[in-house]
Amino acid sequence: MITIQTILTQAYSDQKPGTSGLRKKVKHFQQPHYLENFIQSVFDTLIQKFGSIQDKTLVVGGDGRYYNQAAIQIILKMAVANGIGKVMVGQNGLLSTPAASVIIRKYQTFGGLILSASHNPGGKNADFGIKYNIANGGPAPESITNAIFSNSREISTYRIARTEDIDLSRIGTQKTGDMLVEIIDPVQDYADLMQQIFDFPAIKKLFAGDFRFCFDAMHAVTGPYAQEIFVKRLGAPANSVINDTPLEDFAGRHPDPNLIYAKPLADLLFSENGPDFGAASDGDGDRNMILGHGVFVNPCDSLAILAANADCVPAYRGKVKGVARSMPTSQAPDRVADKLGLPMYETPTGWKFFGNLLDAGKVTFCGEESFGTSSDHIREKDGLWAVLFWLNILAVKQQSVAQILTQHWQQFGRNYFARHDFEGVDSEAAKQVLQTVLDQADSLVGKDYGFAQISEIDDYQYHDPVDNSISEHQGVRVMFSDGSRIIFRLSGTGTSGATIRVYFDYFQSDPQKQQMDNQQALAELVQISREISRICELSGKKEPDVIT
Ligand code: G1P
Ligand code: ZN
Repeated sequence: MITIQTILTQAYSDQKPGTSGLRKKVKHFQQPHYLENFIQSVFDTLIQKFGSIQDKTLVVGGDGRYYNQAAIQIILKMAVANGIGKVMVGQNGLLSTPAASVIIRKYQTFGGLILSASHNPGGKNADFGIKYNIANGGPAPESITNAIFSNSREISTYRIARTEDIDLSRIGTQKTGDMLVEIIDPVQDYADLMQQIFDFPAIKKLFAGDFRFCFDAMHAVTGPYAQEIFVKRLGAPANSVINDTPLEDFAGRHPDPNLIYAKPLADLLFSENGPDFGAASDGDGDRNMILGHGVFVNPCDSLAILAANADCVPAYRGKVKGVARSMPTSQAPDRVADKLGLPMYETPTGWKFFGNLLDAGKVTFCGEESFGTSSDHIREKDGLWAVLFWLNILAVKQQSVAQILTQHWQQFGRNYFARHDFEGVDSEAAKQVLQTVLDQADSLVGKDYGFAQISEIDDYQYHDPVDNSISEHQGVRVMFSDGSRIIFRLSGTGTSGATIRVYFDYFQSDPQKQQMDNQQALAELVQISREISRICELSGKKEPDVIT
């Protein structure tokens, strides 16, 4: 017999409204009853929405950061006490976010709890996070996250079983109370799906030749996935996967695949004898960065190139339904959709907006400028999927990354893109920056800057074509007559103060002018953005803190 305790607790309610889960410092999660309150609020919400959770299966796993296993032990004891039928847990508590999405869908489970703070640093003094994904494998919609949040404000007790910890290293099924715990291989189902989607024999041939490849797992969750897929199944040399041991603190690094935090990889690719292709993924494996020898592929171009070359991939050949990108992502994918006659959707920033389009079968590919790309195979972004897609294209086309980029621009035109982040800005001042642009809309529209005129300024609002919901104030768009854009947006994920993101998208159709340096090509738009928003004056900063 297992003792079930009902523990009295006070309500915590510090989840950021509109976010899909909790993301806090480890120490914050370690406060007495804090994690327990969130978990009980999730279970209570599921009971309220779906009646019973008995006989249901849940998936649980995380990116391996500090507190991952401790949190899983608590979740399992609470799952027993709440009468859940079965929990599937990745071995040693590991599951990348895309793999969790695969497993939730493949085994038709009720959903899953994913433990990660994505690309944020890990360790005792760093970040931890948890979110609930629903049965389609994607983040819970607002109706559920809002209910979890309001439950967490009212909760007064939670239920937990007093049992031994479960051995998370032993693959197989164990029983605890009336609940089954199945410890599963975290990699196999994911790797099998990748093998069904992509042309593995062609990629294998590529690796067997003189092609040189490097994948940086950044000491995060993708290490074991990359070893299984690239090395074991595709024959890449074992040392082509670097930093492949998941560590609780990611070796002290930010596990974020961009030119700043994955600089050692970028330096390698830009060195004289560097590999032909390089890639990296983040803490939980959903982001990706793509590099060729001497070139960086911006994520907007990457999405466009994947869509344009879908016929190289067996699972997508002749089957692409449409493409979606977040609003600030450059319009490079739109040019592909236009030429190929595919429906194109623009959504607000954040992965959750793609879910409805994917579920309704309206789009096959989707992506964001923030290094997130995926398809309808799951309901999360997927880092290794994007890397495999590129490898598949390289294997079929037998061209370098630089050649593929240049030819793509010649065919579709080039969208130069950059994002400037002004961090830690006073919240009121940040709002004022956006308002300044909106207030001047009437006088700015029609203004001629030589290369083009401002054709429209608006406060972006999204009308979801599937559920008809409306999302307002999703960023201020300044649009030019040649298709160029400047976008001002406030970050929804920043932790201290407000972060203003300014996005630049400059279109160049003339192949003679497509080899210009990115910064040079965008200089005029940057200048205009400073003038029309008074961003430097209002933020008190001469320059952005980060440029990507
Ligand atoms: C950022 C990115 C956004 C991404 C989100 C979660 O959000 O810009 O594309 O979906 O992280 O990874 P933001 O801080 O801009 O609200
Ligand atoms: Zn992530």
